[in-house]
Amino acid sequence: MRLLVLCLGNICRSPMGEGALRARLDDSPLAGAVEVDSAGTGGWHAGEPPDRRAIRCAAGHGVDISGLRARQLRRADFQAFDWILCADEANLRDARTLAPAGLRERVVLWLPWAGIDDAREVPDPYTGGTAEFEAAWDLVNRAALATVERLTHAPALGIIDR
Ligand code: 4NP
Repeated sequence: MRLLVLCLGNICRSPMGEGALRARLDDSPLAGAVEVDSAGTGGWHAGEPPDRRAIRCAAGHGVDISGLRARQLRRADFQAFDWILCADEANLRDARTLAPAGLRERVVLWLPWAGIDDAREVPDPYTGGTAEFEAAWDLVNRAALATVERLTHAPALGIIDR
């Protein structure tokens, strides 16, 4: 099973999501069975580490994302990943536009896909401050925990199916 977390710049939400997902998977029976990566629909920050505010926020929750480097979503990702987990509706729309026919169903909104029902999107914290980054962390961490639950308890939707 391979999961790709997607946002716009791949320096705030999706690297925090990748870090949270790796950490929660490592703490679960799925450790070693799920590969995780992240990307952005935009390429402006390709090659850069996460935003320093995202690094600081994740570190405050015990997760080191400083070694991650941004990259842009590419067409090969739609074959390579079982699920492309989008932070917001714009990411979903942009990724589905790029997806080859027949693979669009792999592109989903992360929060509802994971079973979270009180939010649909992870708001972009880029123009915000500490509170916005903490709110984004809270959502991606809840999504990461819910993803582990989903893949553990609904295998037909997860690791056995793909
Ligand atoms: P992200 O945040 O999509 O959560 O990584 C953003 C980072 C950079 C930009 C926009 C959003 N930007 O326009 O450069």
